Amino acid sequence: MIMHGPSVSLVPLDRRHLEATRRWANDWEIAELMDRATPVSDAAHEHWFATLHGKTDRVYFAIEIQAEDDTPSHVGNVWLWDIDPRHRKCEVRIVVGHDSVRSQGLGTQALSLISKYAFERLNLHKVFALVLASNARAVRAFENAGFQQEGLLKNDRWSGERYVDVTMLGLLREARVNNVPSAHVRRQLHDTASHHA
Ligand SMILES: CC(C)(COP(=O)(O)OP(=O)(O)OC[C@H]1O[C@@H](n2cnc3c(N)ncnc32)[C@H](O)[C@@H]1OP(=O)(O)O)[C@@H](O)C(=O)NCCC(=O)NCCS
Repeated sequence: MIMHGPSVSLVPLDRRHLEATRRWANDWEIAELMDRATPVSDAAHEHWFATLHGKTDRVYFAIEIQAEDDTPSHVGNVWLWDIDPRHRKCEVRIVVGHDSVRSQGLGTQALSLISKYAFERLNLHKVFALVLASNARAVRAFENAGFQQEGLLKNDRWSGERYVDVTMLGLLREARVNNVPSAHVRRQLHDTASHHA
């Protein structure tokens, strides 16, 4: 299953995505933002990938863009986590791996596509995110994809130096249905169409 946005595609996470995925998992700055505290060895990474299949509580996609020579370039991952079949909700997590491709709207598009997938294909009712309150770029990307801030979890995580606050953002299926695609993505779609005109 592959999903296409104006400039990103979400494709199933495959073996060819593993090297970059492990690099990002071991990147100190990304680990802090993603609340990861332990290093990922080659063996652990292989085991994680091997056991991914068959798990029904998570769905991983690689985020790809077209490089100049038209080959796909792997720029990040986005995934649904802890899918709850009773309450029909799950967490969304995302990483766009390199600073050179951040703040160009790719994260917003990927979040929009995976939310659509969660609602339409998995019939979920709500997707939510837990983001460090200090991570303004991530909060903004989720908001641009239609998520709304639902609350502040005080002193929720240990940063290595102190306890820090986490912002919870949520997107309800009805809200997305009434506002599809979000105004931000609509603007991107319009810009893309104008460039191609
Ligand atoms: C968070 C992340 C996924 C967002 O993806 P992205 O492609 O960079 O995001 P987008 O370009 O779609 O949107 C980012 C928005 O934040 C804005 N922004 C960038 N830096 C900002 C800052 N310091 N303060 C406030 N807004 C900021 C951008 O301008 C953009 O908003 P706009 O389009 O309205 O101008 C990506 O930056 C990333 O992977 N960061 C590291 C890992 C991480 O934080 N993951 C999320 C943890 S839950």
